Amino acid sequence: MRIDKFVSEQGGISRSDAKTMIRKGQILVNGTVVKSADAKIDPEKDIITINGKDVAYRQFMYIMLNKPDGVICATRDGLSETVLELLPPDFRRKGIFPAGRLDKDTEGFVFITDDGALAHRMLSPKNHVEKEYIVTLEKPAEEGYIELFASGMTIDGDEKCLPAKLIMTDRPDVVRLILHEGKYHQVKRMMEAAGNRVTHLKRVRMGGITLDPTLASGESREITAEELSHLWDNME
Ligand code: URA
Repeated sequence: MRIDKFVSEQGGISRSDAKTMIRKGQILVNGTVVKSADAKIDPEKDIITINGKDVAYRQFMYIMLNKPDGVICATRDGLSETVLELLPPDFRRKGIFPAGRLDKDTEGFVFITDDGALAHRMLSPKNHVEKEYIVTLEKPAEEGYIELFASGMTIDGDEKCLPAKLIMTDRPDVVRLILHEGKYHQVKRMMEAAGNRVTHLKRVRMGGITLDPTLASGESREITAEELSHLWDNME
């Protein structure tokens, strides 16, 4: 691989900015300054140092973001801020996108990646990974909800949902809800079908990956290889 390609892809910067950094001597290959943008490197073996920091080669980027209220899950939006705009520059690689959407007013775990094949598998109806939400309700949850949600509810007259697991918490107006699919406004519509209303919604888990509780609203971090290996846990 050419060094300018490596620097541009891994650093989330343009090819011409990468060339400028090379010209300025900011890039080392195995401890030696590289001066030529077309120098060839082996991304698996060579140690590349960008501005004093060793950068391990990652073919794909996997990020967890703690999405705040008011931000859109899209790659581009003319009016509102998007989840991608919240990421630090070195996470903003070409081709990254949110794998699965949350509503503008929903908070919590958004999985962002440039690995299209993994995102596709994750979102495919037959592979749907579990998604866990903390749901705050207008009125206290009723005992009957557990049964109702487990039975596979019908929403908006004719849309059938897969069985969902509802767990009561020590607050009567807060429940945890685990879904295996991602229909449009699904949690809100299920709660409406149950005669209640969602006042706050936060996603806290996708498959076996839990939202890092130390991430403040708007913060993101890379998903570790260990965490990623648990993505497919808990699949039905
Ligand atoms: N269900 C909803 O209603 N909204 C979301 O953002 C996610 C699940």
